[in-house]
Amino acid sequence: MNLLVTRRLPEAVEQRAAREFAVVQLAIDGAFDGNSVLRHCAGIAAILCTPADRFDASLINRLPDSVRVIATFSVGVEHIDMAAAAARGIAIRHTPDVLSVATAELALTLMLMAARRAGEGERLLRAGRWRGLSPTFLLGTGIAGKALGIFGMGRIGRELAKMARGLAMTVHYRNRNRLEPALEGGAIYHGSDTSFLAACDILSINAPGGADTRHWLNAERIAGLRPGAIVINTGRGSTVDDEALIAALRSGHLAAAGLDVFEGEPDINAGYMTLENAVLLPHIGSATVETREAMGFLALDGIADVLKRSNGTASG
Ligand code: 8YV
Repeated sequence: MNLLVTRRLPEAVEQRAAREFAVVQLAIDGAFDGNSVLRHCAGIAAILCTPADRFDASLINRLPDSVRVIATFSVGVEHIDMAAAAARGIAIRHTPDVLSVATAELALTLMLMAARRAGEGERLLRAGRWRGLSPTFLLGTGIAGKALGIFGMGRIGRELAKMARGLAMTVHYRNRNRLEPALEGGAIYHGSDTSFLAACDILSINAPGGADTRHWLNAERIAGLRPGAIVINTGRGSTVDDEALIAALRSGHLAAAGLDVFEGEPDINAGYMTLENAVLLPHIGSATVETREAMGFLALDGIADVLKRSNGTASG
């Protein structure tokens, strides 16, 4: 079976793909161009893409009938028009679970870096501006005993909650639905944004992107956070209104932010660049060797499963 892969994958994943499929590797590095997919997808049964590759209805509608499945190297699927794929009988597979711990670890990294002003300190030291110890130098805030609010208590949010409990934080959460007590693990559910936001010392966004969460963190909700609160985002950049967040980081209403994802990434709002109190990472939430290999293998499993079951006929 022919598999089209949009970008380079970890070596072990590419090796397995080459053993199991006839691979067409586009090796896109940078901006995605749907036409390059269309130029190479004659006779292709499966496509392996990433969140940087937008499979909108217009692209999906122009794929050849041979395409039975699109697997994305991500848990997020907002870059794929699911309805258009369903209408064409194209199955969609993604890579949940295997990246939850890695992404939660990165949220924790950002939380500590933002609270303890680690980025600022490192920039200062590297610039040769460190004048030595002082009792008032680079004072941050501790996280032990603080309230962590998790927006989106799915698999990643729950891993972060476990880590936070180990760090003596109290955990609050906002979610579409309240979780079973066993999954809640003692976290406090909020039925409204107002009570949730008012409870957070640190807000971590772990919700999926897409229309439902677009610009959820806007000026009004930021105003509902405590003065000196910290915002972390490892979900999707589209969940944050950048202008509102930048204004609150400038005014000092928010102490700091730690961001791994950005609206329009990799072209991020220039306002972030000069903010000392913003820790900025280039979307590396799941970027560990173990995790990226597991994601690749899961994507290949999903493709193989669909192709086996479809047996040359349409499948979902
Ligand atoms: C991906 C992500 O690993 O899974 C997702 O939805 O955002 C990331 O963790 C990354 O985009 C690489 O494909």
